Amino acid sequence: MLLTDKYRPKLFKEIIGNGKQKKEIESWLENWKNDIPQPCLLLIGPAGTGKTSIAHIIASHFSEFIELNASDKRSFDIIMNTVGESATTHSLYSKERKLIILDEVDGIHGNDDRGGTRAIGKIIKTSKHPIVMTANDFYSKRLTSIKPKCQVIKINKVHTNSINALLKKICKEEGVVADPIAIKELAKRSNGDMRSALNTLQVITDKDKKLELSDLDIISSKDNTNNIFDSVRRVLKSKSIDKIKKSLMLDEDPTLVMEYIAENIPREYEKPKEIKKAYEMISEADFYFGKARSTRNYTYWRYATEFMGLGVALAKDETYKKFTRLTGSMAFTLMGRTRGKRALRDRITDKMSKKLHVSSSVAISMFPEMEIMFENDEVAYEIASYLDLDDDEIKRFRKKKIPKKVIKLMEKRKLEEKAKSKKIKRSSFEVATKIDDKIDVDKITKSKNNNEENISKTEDLSTQNEEKIEKKKEEDSAQKSLFSF
Ligand SMILES: Nc1ncnc2c1ncn2[C@@H]1O[C@H](COP(=O)(O)OP(=O)(O)OP(=O)(O)O)[C@@H](O)[C@H]1O
Ligand SMILES: [Mg+2]
Repeated sequence: MLLTDKYRPKLFKEIIGNGKQKKEIESWLENWKNDIPQPCLLLIGPAGTGKTSIAHIIASHFSEFIELNASDKRSFDIIMNTVGESATTHSLYSKERKLIILDEVDGIHGNDDRGGTRAIGKIIKTSKHPIVMTANDFYSKRLTSIKPKCQVIKINKVHTNSINALLKKICKEEGVVADPIAIKELAKRSNGDMRSALNTLQVITDKDKKLELSDLDIISSKDNTNNIFDSVRRVLKSKSIDKIKKSLMLDEDPTLVMEYIAENIPREYEKPKEIKKAYEMISEADFYFGKARSTRNYTYWRYATEFMGLGVALAKDETYKKFTRLTGSMAFTLMGRTRGKRALRDRITDKMSKKLHVSSSVAISMFPEMEIMFENDEVAYEIASYLDLDDDEIKRFRKKKIPKKVIKLMEKRKLEEKAKSKKIKRSSFEVATKIDDKIDVDKITKSKNNNEENISKTEDLSTQNEEKIEKKKEEDSAQKSLFSF
């Protein structure tokens, strides 16, 4: 059974954090019980903080409730029927009241966005029934006209200490032998998302009932970055554009994320039609990744992520209420691979950041271009020696080692260049002294003609020389520009 189902809060006091907000919700509920109609309640907050759980707890206080998903257009007809029914029934006693839950109102439902917003507005206006809505994005355009009509309650991220305490309790109850430091770290890395904390705990401990610090390598430690499993889960579980787009903002190689998604499609989706469609989307994504690489136009990446994210997400008719484990043999290999890949990636980005003065995420975004440049042996050698990359690091960008022949040639060329630049310096010194000499001679002979002739000669010499220096400079900057993309 899913840990998130098993430990889904059933009472307000089981909802962790958001004390003030809970009080406000309880008094809203109390007023309805006392037949004092209340405005529509709009719970807005980040994923995994208990909004849907709260809506269900509210529902448990009413004799009847209907829960609908805002991403399904049919929801509005159903609600309008219910709302209409209530409008004609003038006397509304509390026992006749139905709670209407509209989950994820900032999610998608069809192409006509305005239609959805209008429908929600109408429901709020007409309904005499209590309504609870939930949303993720406080600044979603869709909510602009809805917010003023609602009692908005901002649900905050769950505090790390609270996540830590709950994880500890659950580990104890589940008989998981857990290192307290690992629990604390997991709590921290969940970044206020209780669902993510529980799901990660489940994935890690499902097999051996153990949680160690090293198990957490699969989760990114950076705040606000999603971990790869969460992204995959959100793509497979959600139908909300915002959620999927955000979940794909990963500090991770997007083609690896695509592999994870592809790997898990048949674990999550059950209908052959959905699986087929989802794989078609993956193949589109793959096509665009390839196109980005071959044309060096990285705007194609956007299409690729849209196909592997939204495309796969919308291939399903509805979300499955089940837990998908990422603990298959393939996933384990992937986990191992990611761990190794991550360490390698971090070493390379470290070197790039230091040399090129860019952040590590900018460095990562340069990887595909690096791959292209590394196709050329000589360029590969230049970049590798500039960044001081070792063989493993070079292998990240090209399959074959740089041929020894090329390395030798390049080293020789480097030495020659060095010698050449020394020579240029020396010859420009010689020219300068020659010019001085000539001027002296001219002064002595006082021959106007000679003088002019000599001056024009020296001018020629110095332009030639300048040209040489200029050419060298251009060559140098051409090399440098390789690293300033
Ligand atoms: N505040 C909380 N206290 C205790 N458990 C929580 C809390 N928030 C989330 N959880 C756990 O996470 C699970 C998912 O929470 P829930 O579905 O309520 O999140 P949500 O805020 O609706 O997320 P989303 O925005 O993704 O829909 C719950 O079943 C519960 O196990
Ligand atoms: Mg929810």
